[in-house]
Amino acid sequence: MIPRRRIPIAGRDLRDVFTAPFVPRTQDAADIAAFEEAFRQRVGCAYAVATASGREALLLIVDALRLGPGDEMIVPAYTLGELLPLIAARGIRCVAADIDPATLNVTAARVGARITPKTRAILVDHLFGAPCEIGALMQLAARHGLPLIEDCAHAVGAYADGKPVGSFGDAALFSLEVSKGVATFGGGMLTTSNRQIAEHARQAVADRLRHPGPAVRKAALKYVEEMAVRSPLYALAARLMFGGRGNGFERAYRRAHDQLRQPSVGYSGMQARIGLRRLGALDERNRRFNAMWLELADDLPPGFAAPLRDRHGSPAFYNFAARYDGDIVRLRRAAQTQGLDLAIRGEVMDDCAVLLGQADCPEAAAAYAKIVQVPLHDGLGADGPRRVAKKLAAAACQCR
Ligand SMILES: Cc1ncc(COP(=O)(O)O)c(C=O)c1O
Repeated sequence: MIPRRRIPIAGRDLRDVFTAPFVPRTQDAADIAAFEEAFRQRVGCAYAVATASGREALLLIVDALRLGPGDEMIVPAYTLGELLPLIAARGIRCVAADIDPATLNVTAARVGARITPKTRAILVDHLFGAPCEIGALMQLAARHGLPLIEDCAHAVGAYADGKPVGSFGDAALFSLEVSKGVATFGGGMLTTSNRQIAEHARQAVADRLRHPGPAVRKAALKYVEEMAVRSPLYALAARLMFGGRGNGFERAYRRAHDQLRQPSVGYSGMQARIGLRRLGALDERNRRFNAMWLELADDLPPGFAAPLRDRHGSPAFYNFAARYDGDIVRLRRAAQTQGLDLAIRGEVMDDCAVLLGQADCPEAAAAYAKIVQVPLHDGLGADGPRRVAKKLAAAACQCR
């Protein structure tokens, strides 16, 4: 089986995970500061603050902008649905703007059509690592005097108009989750050149528990899962770990994952040490992923279409999302029998318009119904994209 996700097992990462409890807290603090500084320089902004998750970075921005009850925020209609209740809990009404089907990102025209006197902020994505038309969106936001937040959860290392994403808007959020470009077993990064936003975030994370325990637990469980994925007995291991009554492993992982995201838990020194190395290797990683992406796009069988990758800049892909013109549920089932693990619907992204009770974003609805996420990761090996494309073709054939 070609799994959806893989993580690298590197000696230096393992050493960081297992020595974390013995590292002095002063060293942790210095390493977190060094990682934030390296990230800040990489994005080209004035401040970077490490947070418990990407979504927490978003909420810190929202709070720093003093958005609250009665305010409206425009969000992409095709993005992570879990963001919506978090924003709604602040009394803010999210209004979805439809996406461009070619790029899967929002456009200035579509966001502009959603602006009302109550609009107080605009959230845009660089979805799946491909930059949105950020120049036009910035002009729109400036014309209306609205702050613009960039969601760079998928796009660390991507450029638009020659500038790193995350450096355009009033502030940006990055995710450091396990499958992302700079993956540190969880965490997030807030970047901004606005001192007030940075100070608010810095204060919010100042007095947190910096004990590495939760991050070490999550990393250790992730390594166990990765070893199971790599084992020739993966199917059996998966049944024992995730299936039926034997899903204790999944529960333990969830618990560790949730614990790490609690607002009382701070980003740890262990994560920062891993993050510094990942950041140093980011360009090389993005070159590799972009090359695999292109190879897979070239080999896509009939019936599949890849989104436009570089209309608004140079991407930094972290996965491969393709549109399929048949039944995605049947395709997923057929792909399983071919040994290919595809993600569909809410496992890829959500139709946020529907979640918000809007029926006016047909392109997001079509993306939700037609996009499949195809494995793209370092575990594929040299001829990986070709093997994936072959399995996709066989699965599509089986569906006819
Ligand atoms: C588009 C998008 N925005 C925000 C986030 C939130 O990131 P995190 O999981 O680190 O909270 C994600 C998570 O993958 C995402 O896909």
